[in-house]
Amino acid sequence: MMLIDTHCHLDFPEFNQDRKEVIERAAEAGVAYIVNIGSSIEGSRRSVELARDYPFIYATLGIHPHYAKDVEGRVPEELRRLAKEEKVAAIGEVGLDYYRNLSPKDLQKSLFLDFINLAKEKNLPIVIHSREAHKETLEILKKEFKSGIRGVMHCFSADEEYLKECLDMGLYLSFTCNLTFKNAKGLRALARKVPVERLLLETDAPFLAPQEFRGRRNEPAYLTYLVKEHARIHGLSQGDIARITTHNAGALFGLPLKEEPKIAYAIRDSLYLNITNRCTNDCDFCTRNKGDFVKGHNLRLEREPAVGDIMKAVGDPLDFKEIVFCGYGEPLLRLDVVKEVAGRLKKKGARIRMVTNGEGNVIHKRSIVKELTGLIDRVSISLNVDTEKTYDKVCRSRFGSGVFNKIKEFTKECRDAGMEVELTFLDLDGVDLARCEEIAKKELGVNCRIRRYNVVG
Ligand code: NI
Repeated sequence: MMLIDTHCHLDFPEFNQDRKEVIERAAEAGVAYIVNIGSSIEGSRRSVELARDYPFIYATLGIHPHYAKDVEGRVPEELRRLAKEEKVAAIGEVGLDYYRNLSPKDLQKSLFLDFINLAKEKNLPIVIHSREAHKETLEILKKEFKSGIRGVMHCFSADEEYLKECLDMGLYLSFTCNLTFKNAKGLRALARKVPVERLLLETDAPFLAPQEFRGRRNEPAYLTYLVKEHARIHGLSQGDIARITTHNAGALFGLPLKEEPKIAYAIRDSLYLNITNRCTNDCDFCTRNKGDFVKGHNLRLEREPAVGDIMKAVGDPLDFKEIVFCGYGEPLLRLDVVKEVAGRLKKKGARIRMVTNGEGNVIHKRSIVKELTGLIDRVSISLNVDTEKTYDKVCRSRFGSGVFNKIKEFTKECRDAGMEVELTFLDLDGVDLARCEEIAKKELGVNCRIRRYNVVG
């Protein structure tokens, strides 16, 4: 497991006795990068020093709103100079804190604005601290970042409405180890609402140690407790949470991660095969248009893998509940490869599923279902919508109109060939989900699954 602690304060005096050991323990626990957060002039300076000393530590520059009055609401010259340092990954933590209100509100605001301008000038993301000042924080962010914001709302706690606003602005969110507290039910319910694609891990060490060490000093190695909690909350494996949040942190802070394109990629206990990036549809909602990654896996192939490459990438298929032809393209465009790979995996005792747009017969200008019989156990066919008209409009098959009905025919053939078939639909605006269910169950006699259009994998 490879983890990133995106927010801790190893410069604090709590670590003066054993800082080196704490950093070593973090590395042993799988923490590949640490973003050490500056929260004062001295702390920012010390963060930069730590980043110089350790290749896997990055620094941020910030002044906690508590100290806004000490700097008269202005970013000090020293921090402007430090912003030129190579390993400064962000501005923060900065923001507003009306809970303890240790500095006047107007000075907190002017300091926050000054830091926002520095972040813009240096093209750096921001790490935001907001306590009892959510409305004012949002107001400032909305005004200052009209075209989206690169940043994280750290140590998240509040309500669902605020959470939604933060997500709409494009922010990442992070929860600290207080998510593991026995009495943190409300916070866990909130965390469940955050798409994992927007989640970061943070300890905020030395503060907020996990339940097991509650009241004692926190440290980056304890990130593993947070991973366990997130895995439970999101119904993913710990490896999934680690990989996804590491990818997110790398993307936000510009950390040098090696994320090679994947032919085979695991999510939960299934192994997915990405054998082509080509597709015969050009769907509005296609995740390929949104980026290269699904659940932290890079799916943008540099070239299409041969059968041998695929078999090598699978390893032992019995390590997984099922092997799924899926990926960033339509697997049936490579029918021969599907047949060959499925045949070899079947001999090893694997259970095989295929996710397809259902256009296999149209692509090959013949019925191909017989050729797949005995090789594919389960097939998930993406019909996506309830009517031909909508299909033509949002899925834009290269075969033009009429494909909707051809997919239904393909579905029937798969069913009749004894495969376990499900039709999948998306909860897009204007799609009648009751009608979708009727098509699957009544008309075609197969299973029906409604997917949330923005959840992939
Ligand atoms: Ni902090």
